[in-house]
Amino acid sequence: MSTAPSPFDPVAIGPLRLRNRFIKAGANEAMCLDGAPTRALVQHHRDLAAGGVALTTVAYVAVSEVGRTLPNQIWMRPEILPDLRVLTGAVHGEGGAISAQITHGGSFVTGVKVRGATMSSVSGLNKAGLLAGNWRRRAMTAADMDLVTRQFVDTAKLAREAGFDAVELHMGHGYLLNQFISPLDNTRNDEYGGNAENRVRFPARVLAAVKEAVGSDLAVIAKINVADGPRRGADADDAVVTARALERAGADLLVLSGGRNVESTWFMFGSLVDQDEMARMLGGDPLSRLAIRLSSLTGPRSMTFREMYFLEHSRKVRAAVTMPLAYLGGVKSLDNAERAMTEGFDCVVMARALIHDTGLVNRFRSGETRQSGCTSCNRCVAYIYHPAGTRCVENAPNDPALNLVRAAAVD
Ligand SMILES: Cc1cc2nc3c(=O)[nH]c(=O)nc-3n(C[C@H](O)[C@H](O)[C@H](O)COP(=O)(O)O)c2cc1C
Ligand code: SF4
Repeated sequence: MSTAPSPFDPVAIGPLRLRNRFIKAGANEAMCLDGAPTRALVQHHRDLAAGGVALTTVAYVAVSEVGRTLPNQIWMRPEILPDLRVLTGAVHGEGGAISAQITHGGSFVTGVKVRGATMSSVSGLNKAGLLAGNWRRRAMTAADMDLVTRQFVDTAKLAREAGFDAVELHMGHGYLLNQFISPLDNTRNDEYGGNAENRVRFPARVLAAVKEAVGSDLAVIAKINVADGPRRGADADDAVVTARALERAGADLLVLSGGRNVESTWFMFGSLVDQDEMARMLGGDPLSRLAIRLSSLTGPRSMTFREMYFLEHSRKVRAAVTMPLAYLGGVKSLDNAERAMTEGFDCVVMARALIHDTGLVNRFRSGETRQSGCTSCNRCVAYIYHPAGTRCVENAPNDPALNLVRAAAVD
């Protein structure tokens, strides 16, 4: 007889008790205005909580103005607390919990011009920032590391004030903390570069500082890569070292993702991103269209989507640590979620299946369905550039008016 929990069982993640084990992944909603949440963002996360998700993740809250990747992206500051409180209150009103994915773009700044060179683990040409005019990046100094650590801590404290239940430090996909973990960026020859233990040193220090500051009130989660995808990138053995270091630093949960926004979206999604949809969404900007085309030349030409495509990599991390882990990557059915439990994962995290149907968890629970209708076409990814925000192309369009009003605006 299996001793694995049901995905509908409650679970404790640090100080947080979740009503079940389904988590909505951080997935850029593009529902913000002037760096603050809009009514569209409130509606989206309220729908997810009403649909049965235990913990919903607000994507992509920058820890500072220069930590943004895109111009409208939320960046944490006291001025937006009223908007954030409307958002957290809406989710709590539906019995759900809410996490803020907090991040610094480092040299991954594709939509904002930063003054001077962008920060990263190393100096040199910044291919991720070329289109935005951020041509050069510079290796962070000890003072930069102290500053960024403080910014993560301050952001987590403001998240607590805003009513969030958790913060998720983004250490995957090519953002600043991943620019340390990944050998695709990090060629430093000090104690922050070289082997995997050294490469995770700074991210682990940031997490420990956040944990010390807010850990008795908020769950402190980290999203990491189980592998980067490209041959010279981090692999599952590196991920084991990363996970062990973050376990020692006090993380309450690791979300196991993979891939990088520039080099390997195919690996992140387990299927190719629709380049035509992306080019169409970027409209008449020929340079961006060229960049999209060029980025598609480095990955595979074709690919067959496989449910639970990170399972083999994630198992290696599961075997290496005892802390709670969340399985992510191609969870499309209740069978997949149950499989994640029998494989020893504590939670399941879904992005596309929940973009397609915010009510999926309740439908799983009631028995109405066991399978998501998401086709893994990835066309939603292009909608992160749409003025009405991210949506599934199989569903009705979003109401653009909701994305033009800040969450706390008074009628
Ligand atoms: C439209 C879209 C936007 C995304 N934006 C983010 C993001 O802002 N932060 C992040 O960590 N991952 C982002 N992702 C990746 C997802 O969190 C997740 O890692 C990936 O979609 C694989 O999970 P899935 O198979 O459940 O979709 C995004 C995914 C999609 C589809
Ligand atoms: S557009 Fe819809 S069907 Fe296609 S991957 Fe995104 S959520 Fe799934």
